[in-house]
Amino acid sequence: MKYSFVASLVLQSTAALAELLPVHLKAPSPAHFRDIVRNDTFDFGCRPVAKPTEDGLYRLHAWLTEDQITHLTKEYESSEVTIHKQKVKRVATAPIGTGDRFSSGTISPVGLGTQSSTTTISSILNVNEIKSAVNALVKNYGIGLQTLPYTTFNGASQYVGYVGAGTDKSKYHLYFSAAIHARERGAPDNIIYWISDLLAANKSGSGLTYGKKTYTNAQVNSVLSAGIVFFPLVNPDGVAYDQSSSSLWRKNRNTKSGSSGSSVGVDINRNFDFLWNFKKYFVSSEAPASTSPSSEIFYGTAAASEPETKNHVSVYSTFPKIRWFMDIHSAVGDLLYSWGDDEDQTTTSTMNFLNTAYDGKRGTVGDSSYKEYIPSQDLTNIRTVSTATVNAMKAVGGRSYSSVQAVGLYPTSGATDDYAFSRFWSVSGANKVYGYTLEFGPSGNFYPTLAEFNTNILDTNAGFMDWSLAAISVGLE
Ligand SMILES: *[C@@H]1O[C@H](CO)[C@@H](O)[C@H](O)[C@H]1NC(C)=O
Ligand SMILES: *[C@@H]1O[C@H](CO)[C@@H](O)[C@H](O)[C@H]1NC(C)=O
Ligand SMILES: [Zn+2]
Repeated sequence: MKYSFVASLVLQSTAALAELLPVHLKAPSPAHFRDIVRNDTFDFGCRPVAKPTEDGLYRLHAWLTEDQITHLTKEYESSEVTIHKQKVKRVATAPIGTGDRFSSGTISPVGLGTQSSTTTISSILNVNEIKSAVNALVKNYGIGLQTLPYTTFNGASQYVGYVGAGTDKSKYHLYFSAAIHARERGAPDNIIYWISDLLAANKSGSGLTYGKKTYTNAQVNSVLSAGIVFFPLVNPDGVAYDQSSSSLWRKNRNTKSGSSGSSVGVDINRNFDFLWNFKKYFVSSEAPASTSPSSEIFYGTAAASEPETKNHVSVYSTFPKIRWFMDIHSAVGDLLYSWGDDEDQTTTSTMNFLNTAYDGKRGTVGDSSYKEYIPSQDLTNIRTVSTATVNAMKAVGGRSYSSVQAVGLYPTSGATDDYAFSRFWSVSGANKVYGYTLEFGPSGNFYPTLAEFNTNILDTNAGFMDWSLAAISVGLE
């Protein structure tokens, strides 16, 4: 009894902690990656992304164990697919804060945009500090705090902050969320330090500076007046686990479908009610999510089966006039816009995600049997805002970011961004919400160095400013 208990503990920790190494595969075409992308035993980050390279090939990023690398190297021995371990400088990654720098919600966070350009933040916020930071903003600036209805599998209570448009919740038009994927370190920090900047600049009558990008006090006021709702920690159980194990943990920690190693947890970003039951809606040759609990993209036991998903969705009811939504992820250097299930088309309105005639046909990129309908004015609107955002991020310090349709070369189901946009058609009376996924950089790096962590704050915060300003100019109502 004792022996098997110990043995199972050992097994559990080896399975969970098998080291994942960043690699990339190269091939002459995206089609060469189709088999590997469909195999849900591999980890491609938030979504598989194959990008053209300068030498005329395509590059696909992945995080693999040594065993998987050995297996694939053999499998692709006499093919045109090559596997390359990323030469990551093994410098120290940014530390996680110990204790509480905000002294139990009494000292406000101060962002980088209101401080001298040589100032840096010295560690990543731990789970308690994220809540303490929000409590301090409530105490010192009087921002709103809304407790969400469901508690997580490990019993965490969830909350959103809201700021800028007073107590009338129908005056809030911008919604940000972060850390749905636990390992994407620094995502909550990006949003918390930005909100803190807005509040401090508003209070002192100043503007904001992020590297080479500056914003006036009038722009700060304008962004605040749009009404901002922020959900800084969508996956508290996963983040607590990742911060204590450094295991590149992605999913939540629900053990309903599996209780050891990688079988624990649901990918919350495949659990939303948008084409969730992918086996029915997509062509059988595509794998936008996984039914296997041990997969990194396990979709859960039902659409919105997870408390984190239900809480995320509840925000749309509480703040019924949200128009623009951004989900903050890493680590690619992209801003993704809808749709993510197939290529966009603006001509055939009946070819859409609700039309059962297309069940089993969705998801192949490059074919004409199905493409997802988007009204052309909506496409113009989301692209306008997307371009403004990446231009701002590029201007900060020169890192590269691109704006691309979320489907890229492979489809996704059940994700926050498409769910947000789909509500207008699938939920009666729902406001139209333009959904984005920001993948801050640098590419392949879930655990940034301290310098990268600080650059991420500058880049994203300028991105949040221009995203908000462009959204305001396109329209909030
Ligand atoms: C998926 O990859 C694993 C190795 O990680 C391999 O054992 C398995 O056969 C592959 N499955 C398919 C369907 O290709
Ligand atoms: C911004 O500053 C004004 C003037 O001091 C103040 O009345 C308002 O409450 C501030 N807004 C926020 C969101 O703190
Ligand atoms: Zn992600």
